Amino acid sequence: MSGSSFRIRTSRGATDVAVERGALDTLGSALRARVAGFSSAPVVVHDASVPKAIVARALRAFEREGLTPSAVALDLHAGKTLAGAESLCHELLARACDRTAVLVAVGGGAVSDLTGFVAAIYLRGIRYVNVPTTLLAQIDASIGGKTGVDLPEGKNLVGAFWPPSAVVIDPDVLAGLPEGEWTSGCGEVAKYAVLAEDLLTLLESTSSALASDGALLDRVLSLCVRTKVRYVEADEFDRGVRRALNLGHTIGHALEAATGFHVLRHGEAVALGLRAEVSLSRALKMASAEFEQRVVRLLGRLGLRSTLPSIDVDRVLACARHDKKREGGAIRFALPVAPGEIRMVDVADDGRIADAVRSLIDGTPRPS
Ligand SMILES: NC(=O)c1ccc[n+]([C@@H]2O[C@H](COP(=O)([O-])OP(=O)(O)OC[C@H]3O[C@@H](n4cnc5c(N)ncnc54)[C@H](O)[C@@H]3O)[C@@H](O)[C@H]2O)c1
Ligand SMILES: [Zn+2]
Repeated sequence: MSGSSFRIRTSRGATDVAVERGALDTLGSALRARVAGFSSAPVVVHDASVPKAIVARALRAFEREGLTPSAVALDLHAGKTLAGAESLCHELLARACDRTAVLVAVGGGAVSDLTGFVAAIYLRGIRYVNVPTTLLAQIDASIGGKTGVDLPEGKNLVGAFWPPSAVVIDPDVLAGLPEGEWTSGCGEVAKYAVLAEDLLTLLESTSSALASDGALLDRVLSLCVRTKVRYVEADEFDRGVRRALNLGHTIGHALEAATGFHVLRHGEAVALGLRAEVSLSRALKMASAEFEQRVVRLLGRLGLRSTLPSIDVDRVLACARHDKKREGGAIRFALPVAPGEIRMVDVADDGRIADAVRSLIDGTPRPS
C-alpha cells in the first residue's frame, strides 16, 4: 500500500494523519502504534447513516489485534447537540470507561465534532482517533482539533480545541458516498485548490472526474490534507494565519444562514462564497480578472454551481454582519488574491459586498 502521512505537532502532543487505501483494516495496529497506554476496549462512535459495513470493518480491525471494541450509535437527527454529548457521556460511564479509554469517531464531521468534544470533557479529557468517512471530513473536519456541538442559537457555539491522537483516512470508504455529500466535500476541495497552487494546477490539468479516478482522488486528498495540516500547525488556536481557511466561508455561511441551512449544503455554499469573494477581491483591485476566471472554471470542473436563480441580497448581508468575523463596523474576509495568496481584509463598504453577492444571481451582468 502506498499513501501519505503527516504529523501535526500541537500543544498536547502530536497528531499523526495517514491517507492510505485500506487503512480502515489496519486501525488496530494504528491504535497500538499511535496511542500509548490505552484501554484494550476502544469505543467506536458512529451515526446511524454511516454504512454498517464500514463500522463492522473498523470493529474487526480492532478484534484482529486482540482488542475488545464496542460501538455506540449516535442519534444525529437533531444534529450534534449538547444532549447528544451528554448521552454519549452516559454511555461511556455505563461501559466503565476510565481515563485510559479511547474513542474512535467513524463518520462525517458531525460525528468527529461531537466525539472530539466528549473526549475533551469526559473525565476532564480522554484520547480519541478520527476515522473520517465523508470527503468533507477527510480533508477538513477531522483535522485540526476543533471540536464542538451546535446550540439552537447557532452552529459550533460550544466546543473545545482538543486534537485527536491520530486521523486515519481511507479513500476507499468514499465509494458509496451520496452525491450530495460528495458535492459538499468538493466545495472544500475548491477552497484548498485556491490555497495551494499545485492542487489548482493538478485539477486544471486533468480531464478525469475526481469521483471516478482513484489515483487522482488519492493525490487530491493528500494535497488538501497537507494544506490543512500546514495551517493548523502554524496556528493551532485559530488566532492568525489559520483564518485563511475561512476563504469562501464569510459569504458561504451567510448564504447558508439566509436560506435556513436546508437549501444549500455547506460545501455548495462555500463554492458560491468563493465565487462571490473572488469577485469582491477583484472589485477591490486585488485579484486579477484571469484569476477570477480560473476560480470560476475550477468550480465548474468540480461540478459546483457558481450561481443561483435568486438571492435575497439584503438578508445575506444581514447574516454576514451577524457572523463572528465582524470587526468594528466592517466585515472581515479572507480574500483570494492569487493562487496561494490570501489577504485578511475588513470591508466596511456594504455596497461592494452586496454587488459581490448579487454577482451570484443567474444572468447578472459582470464587469469585463
Ligand atoms: N471541526 C472542524 O474543523 C470542522 C470543519 C468543517 C466542518 N465541520 C463540521 O462537520 C459537519 C459536517 O460534516 P460532513 O459534511 O461530513 O457531514 P455529516 O457528518 O453530517 O455526514 C453527512 C451524512 O453522510 C453520512 N455518511 C458518512 N459517511 C458516509 C459514507 N462513507 N457513505 C455514505 N454515507 C456516509 C452520515 O452518516 C451523514 O448522514 C458539520 O457539523 C460541521 O460543523 C467541522
Ligand atoms: Zn467549511
